[in-house]
Amino acid sequence: MSENNFDVVVIGSGPGGYVCAIRMAQLGFKTAIIERYSTLGGTCLNVGCIPSKAFLDSSERYHQTIHSHAIHGINVGDVSLDFPKMVKRVQDVVDTTCGGVKYLMDKNKITTFFGHGSFKDKNTIAIKTEHETIEIKTKNTVIATGSKPTSFPGMEIDKKRIISSTEALKLTEVPEHLVVIGAGVIGLELGSVYKRLGAKVSVVEYADGIISMMDKELGRNLQKVLKRDGIDFYLSHQVEKVENTGTAIKLTAKDIKKDKALILEGDYCLVSVGRRPYTDNLGLENIGISVDERGRIPTDKHLKTTVDGVYAIGDVVKGTMLAHKAEEEGMFVAEQLANQKPHVNYDLIPGVIYTWPEVASVGKTEEELKANKVKYKKGSFPFKALGRARASEESDGLIKVLADPITDEILGVHMIGPRCADLIAEAVLAMEYKASAEDVARTCHAHPTYTEAFKEACLAATDNRPIHL
Ligand code: FAD
Ligand code: NAI
Repeated sequence: MSENNFDVVVIGSGPGGYVCAIRMAQLGFKTAIIERYSTLGGTCLNVGCIPSKAFLDSSERYHQTIHSHAIHGINVGDVSLDFPKMVKRVQDVVDTTCGGVKYLMDKNKITTFFGHGSFKDKNTIAIKTEHETIEIKTKNTVIATGSKPTSFPGMEIDKKRIISSTEALKLTEVPEHLVVIGAGVIGLELGSVYKRLGAKVSVVEYADGIISMMDKELGRNLQKVLKRDGIDFYLSHQVEKVENTGTAIKLTAKDIKKDKALILEGDYCLVSVGRRPYTDNLGLENIGISVDERGRIPTDKHLKTTVDGVYAIGDVVKGTMLAHKAEEEGMFVAEQLANQKPHVNYDLIPGVIYTWPEVASVGKTEEELKANKVKYKKGSFPFKALGRARASEESDGLIKVLADPITDEILGVHMIGPRCADLIAEAVLAMEYKASAEDVARTCHAHPTYTEAFKEACLAATDNRPIHL
């Protein structure tokens, strides 16, 4: 096989693309990966999951140092913020993590091309760099081109004062007043970062609740805590216009319940109203692929597009826009190509919001069960009743377990509280093995740990018999 002929070419090096490439190489395929930016790792590693979590962690440490140590008997003197250093640490984490992906590509003998990939035909990919365009040949292609921030009419993300998450992760100053549009995942995570660093934060949301894709009880609880911590919410508000006035922003919205105008002035406006699949200049028209009404590449249940030998995964196809979903799909396509029988359980993709308290969820919400007329029973356990939570002064939140009233099989688990981002893994595993609430309740959990709250919620769901409530 000549040097530039491949079994598989992956376009895009985010968590979908690079994981897929590694699995392909492990399975013996001659693999190449193409990335249009100069670093590997995609949205997730460069401007998404990794920098946002690094920032959340740094800002939480700063906030705790000022607000949470005294109760433990630790008196802290003057605390100051070195914001440029904080931002630099975030970038250092990104650089190391992206460098790690390049190391993994080399280790697995995956050929890396930096440049914009586009289909010339289904077996020929053109790669355009600043200086030249080269062509490579492939038997199979995996499109993993991800997504970009979206906006809405009446407002342009100018990247200066009207910004997306990408710019919000690289500001050179802490805003005095950050106005956030959208009380979804990005708005609340990055809103929390800047609130903790001292900004006034106002969140304007169209829906009548926050994180409206999750179980409503979680949204109500999270809003209560974030409001207590000083974030202002304007729910049921339709944003009509945002202007950059040079040194500030001016947002005009309408209260859709009271038909009343709202004007907010701030120094930055973070637009976090969702993301759109990214297929710009990919040459899809050259191979006869049309995107759907939301810009996504249609695929069948094997993640094959309408063209033989061309697959698509991650944010660019239907489903939740999450890194771990993209990774699962990357593994799936690779193993399928190797004639294995992989499976992605789309019902059990966990969702996590890394605010503090953290929010995490898997399976059906109460609202979904009600809408589908599915009978269920529930058990809840509040963290304030847990010894481990009291020991750490982390008693906000609860874990709720929804189960089938006859078989006791767990149908959904919804949690808000300390370390829920990690706690949800036990629920996913239990549900993957179709555990009943009683199965979990009869499993020994180490004491004192936050995991006991899940056991207690399962005891509550089993037979309404929690021990510590
Ligand atoms: P991407 O990561 O978007 O990667 C696609 C890559 O393809 C990009 O590098 C792009 O440059 C490249 N590309 C596109 N077109 C071409 C082309 N024609 N030629 C060559 N290269 C191309 N998800 C989580 O699960 N957990 C989180 O905590 C989390 N936090 C997030 C925080 C923020 C601020 C944001 C914005 C997103 C976050 N996400 C999180 C979502 C997560 O980043 C995405 O779901 C994930 O990155 C999708 O992976 P992907 O491989 O499909 O695409
Ligand atoms: P989102 O879909 O989470 O939230 C968007 C919010 O904006 C919704 O509440 C919506 O009602 C609201 N909205 C939409 N249009 C509006 C308007 N005109 N005026 C007021 N409100 C409006 O989108 P977000 O936060 O931009 O995140 C995009 C995606 O990135 C997420 O869906 C998620 O998949 C991914 N992500 C995941 C993270 C995680 O897993 N922790 C962290 C950050 C992003």
